Amino acid sequence: MTPGPTPVPPEVLLAQASPMIHHRAPIYTEIILEVLEDLKYVFQTKNDIIMFASSGTGAMESAVANCFSAGDKVLVVSIGNFGARWAKISEAYGLNVTLLDYEWGTKADPADIEKALAADPDLKGVLVTHSETSTGVVNDIETMGAIVAKTPAIFIVDAISGLGASDMQTDNWNVDVCVAGSQKALMTPPGLAFASVSDKAWQAVETSTLPKFYFDYKKSRDALHKAEPQSPFTPAVSTILGLAVALKMIREETLENVFARHHVNAAATRAGVKALGLELFGTEDPNAHSVTAVKAPGDVDGQAIVKSLRVKYGITTAGGQGKIKGKIFRIGHCGYYDKFDILSLLAGLEMALVGLGHEVTAGAGVAAAEQVFEANS
Ligand SMILES: Cc1ncc(COP(=O)(O)O)c(C=O)c1O
Repeated sequence: MTPGPTPVPPEVLLAQASPMIHHRAPIYTEIILEVLEDLKYVFQTKNDIIMFASSGTGAMESAVANCFSAGDKVLVVSIGNFGARWAKISEAYGLNVTLLDYEWGTKADPADIEKALAADPDLKGVLVTHSETSTGVVNDIETMGAIVAKTPAIFIVDAISGLGASDMQTDNWNVDVCVAGSQKALMTPPGLAFASVSDKAWQAVETSTLPKFYFDYKKSRDALHKAEPQSPFTPAVSTILGLAVALKMIREETLENVFARHHVNAAATRAGVKALGLELFGTEDPNAHSVTAVKAPGDVDGQAIVKSLRVKYGITTAGGQGKIKGKIFRIGHCGYYDKFDILSLLAGLEMALVGLGHEVTAGAGVAAAEQVFEANS
């Protein structure tokens, strides 16, 4: 139960074990066209989606390399570790970064973005995180998108851990480039990254002079728009075969029900943790469906809880990152999870805490979570 890689359904694993197909054969075209349509459903977009054989960071890097030129001014909005990554990538490409840096655990204030854009009309882009995996907090992308849409700046969103877990309406919310990865709520192993590209972003791509080769959006678009759509380079065929099945599962459940399942799982996790007397880290938000970040109680180190859960109970969770390492632990519930995953986790957490010498009422977390599930059944 980490925020990725997440559990992979058996149907997806089986599809990955299928015999290899060649990526220049008609069967590949058939599969990829369907995968891209299903991805558009999950991204809630009509835009082209570019796919890379990389982790999510590759898609983040692709957005920077394709939308800007050296020296361009961009506004990076950071509420945690992955917001900070936007600044690092932008700086690596020689962009001029203005950083809106918030305390970890808080949400960004869209009004600050409005002010920053008004103060500097030369800003060419705004880069932000949807679900900030290091803290569990989800930003208000809709309000931010409406603000950025009124300016010439490109709105770039990292939805790597949020897409398919919390609502992320790429087109309705004016997101120009939305990036995601296969290994979170898309229930597929790591290795695929995606970027949806709006018309406004394509205009920026046309003038961008930053160096790129593998991550060149135009190469991908040209291959995609051939009579028999393809990928310019060898794609991660087996992972795509798995993704095709995972996306069908999402379509069958419907995005609305997928979000609702995540919503209840997250609410039950929060209720369970609080019933154990633990404190949540950061802004409590009913829309934060991917990760629950929990403060380690004063007498126990967060890393010790993670270790005990893994070693004694076979449950893998995540520790804190960067400056909050040891102070929190994180429970991932984006993707292929249901009630009994949450209940087992809470039972394990109770036992781990007791084992580490922290007093809790055995069963209190599980009971509180059960109440949430019953109320939503
Ligand atoms: C919000 C967010 N952004 C970026 C990344 C980096 O993705 P990857 O590790 O796939 O490169 C992650 C991965 O945890 C993430 O959760």
